[in-house]
Amino acid sequence: MSTLDSILKETRLFPPSDEFRHRATISGMAAYNDLCEQADSHYLSFWGDLAREQISWKKPFSRVLDDSNAPFFKWFDDGMLNVSYNCLDRHLALHANKLAIIFEADDGAVTRVTYAELHRRVCQFANGLKSLGLKRGDRIVVYMPMSIEAIVAMQACARIGAIHSVVFGGFSAKSLHERILDAGASAVITANEGLRGGKPVALKAVCDEALAHGDCDSVRHLVVYQRTNNGCSHWQDGRDIWWHKLTEGQPEQCEPEWMNAEDPLFILYTSGSTGKPKGIQHSTAGYLLGALNSFRWVFDIKPNDVFWCTADVGWITGHSYVCYGPLGNAATQVIFEGVPTYPDANRFWQMIERHKVSIFYTAPTAIRSLIKLGADLPKQHDLSSLRLLGTVGEPINPEAWIWYYETVGGSRCPIVDTWWQTETGSAMISPLPGAIATKPGSCTLPLPGIIADIVDESGAPVEPGKGGFLVIKKPFPSLLRTIWGDPERFKKTYFPEEFNGKYYLAGDSSHRDENGYFWIMGRIDDVLNVSGHRLGTMEIESALVANPLVAEAAVVGKPHEIKGEAVVAFVVLKQARPTGDDARKVVEALKNWVAHEIGKIAMPDDIRFGDNLPKTRSGKIMRRLLRAIARGEAITQDTSTLENPAILQQLQQPN
Ligand code: PRX
Repeated sequence: MSTLDSILKETRLFPPSDEFRHRATISGMAAYNDLCEQADSHYLSFWGDLAREQISWKKPFSRVLDDSNAPFFKWFDDGMLNVSYNCLDRHLALHANKLAIIFEADDGAVTRVTYAELHRRVCQFANGLKSLGLKRGDRIVVYMPMSIEAIVAMQACARIGAIHSVVFGGFSAKSLHERILDAGASAVITANEGLRGGKPVALKAVCDEALAHGDCDSVRHLVVYQRTNNGCSHWQDGRDIWWHKLTEGQPEQCEPEWMNAEDPLFILYTSGSTGKPKGIQHSTAGYLLGALNSFRWVFDIKPNDVFWCTADVGWITGHSYVCYGPLGNAATQVIFEGVPTYPDANRFWQMIERHKVSIFYTAPTAIRSLIKLGADLPKQHDLSSLRLLGTVGEPINPEAWIWYYETVGGSRCPIVDTWWQTETGSAMISPLPGAIATKPGSCTLPLPGIIADIVDESGAPVEPGKGGFLVIKKPFPSLLRTIWGDPERFKKTYFPEEFNGKYYLAGDSSHRDENGYFWIMGRIDDVLNVSGHRLGTMEIESALVANPLVAEAAVVGKPHEIKGEAVVAFVVLKQARPTGDDARKVVEALKNWVAHEIGKIAMPDDIRFGDNLPKTRSGKIMRRLLRAIARGEAITQDTSTLENPAILQQLQQPN
């Protein structure tokens, strides 16, 4: 049965246990409904009260929302604050000696830091950045392995008012270069090497290559954290500086830069439907409120919890639920450098047992691959510390959900399936675990204050059971503010005129069942979701056509058992269509090319060659045909408008 079919047939309901519900921050449906009502009837004071309760302000705000220049909304805009102050300093009176981070390295070595220690490290590094002349408003690209230092780097940027842009360490030099240029970065922070699965990852060398690409004159400094004993193959005096040299002797206090609520906190690049990634720009106060509040409600955080989110800081999940949400709430969290399968598929379960993790948040793709590698392995470990589980990034198939629930959670832990996006900054639709009964595969109901709906092309709501476009009808604090440097694209992409220009268009299709629960069906644009990572088909196509062998390329997705979706590329070469061993050689070369151009995550699983691509007489590529071919389905669609039907047979040949 396909994931979609099994999701559509799912009706089982899993209410929280009485024990969980009694202890929960939002306890029972009456409490949830009450909050939704408060938000409905007094939208602005609902958000204003949360912002006053959860954020420590240097200067209080007097106005909650300024919508005079919609959709460029401003929240709490005359307030002043600092995010790093909210994540560190304000905890020192009561929680100085509480563990902030339990870091487990790839080789199993464990390092623990308290809030006082983390505060000291952030201040010293922030002072180091200042000593380089970096200041408020500068963009700083962070290209780091998962480490305490990655968190220190992000927090130090927030402390001095610099705008960080974290780039996932798996992205290629070219992708890194593109992001450095678009952001106009003044500095890059990296490590000599990362370590994943026992193997070094050459991060500094990738930075060298990116910066050598040209036009990077804005980058004056490359700060290098020494993660391994290996040196660097290249060192540019005057530009490159070791992290430990930079922080040596720096004062242990650093006065935070007091920021305006609407100052940008960070830019994070994500894929859209064109070849160029979008710099999603988040605000200081609105974003922080989203991260703080959703962390409290969705993860039901309690003082003794040990939280573990397995996301890399290169993704939005690592921003909101590693760097900002947990620290802002003075939680204790685990951070992991490595991969779930090294040294073997017991790693996650061992770590939960070793660190007594009580809340565990991961992606469906990780769950599916761990089921495959050892469905019974969790039973060999004491996972009794767990009380809550979560998933994010893509729909979870009910079979994987049930396994997660029973085998990992011992049928005792609610699962929060959290739907959200880089753009929304924080969880939008998710069970509140002490209130909402869960259904395998559904992200259930919107958080109070999030006015989500499903509409048709004209913006009118669709009936329950009917599919449509997922929209959010009112602005909310943690929504992106704009696309860095491209406000027009922001407006067109997210607030299109077709939907009356007022609704935030998420880019997902969805339907609602008889309980009003949301079920996410997939993207409506040319964006793929491979292992929970967003990839634009256009981005991969541009990478392919940049190869000297390639004349034309079209990329589609096909369902994949572990990754959710896999990349399939249809390619027309400049030379004659290869077959046999020749074809296999070109396939290998093109896969490696894409890995080099974008990163391994974008590598096609399957590449097919044709003398041409299926096109209509007006020259438009017929992607629905390519999707059918990629899935190995018989072509039942109308091909009468197709210019050259014979090439379908060519494209059906696997290499
Ligand atoms: O299609 C949805 C899917 O991931 C997209 C957002 O990707 P990104 O910005 O990379 O953020 C991922 C982490 C928040 C969405 O448009 N998605 C995310 N969470 C879920 C999901 N699809 C189904 N269920 C989810 N829980």
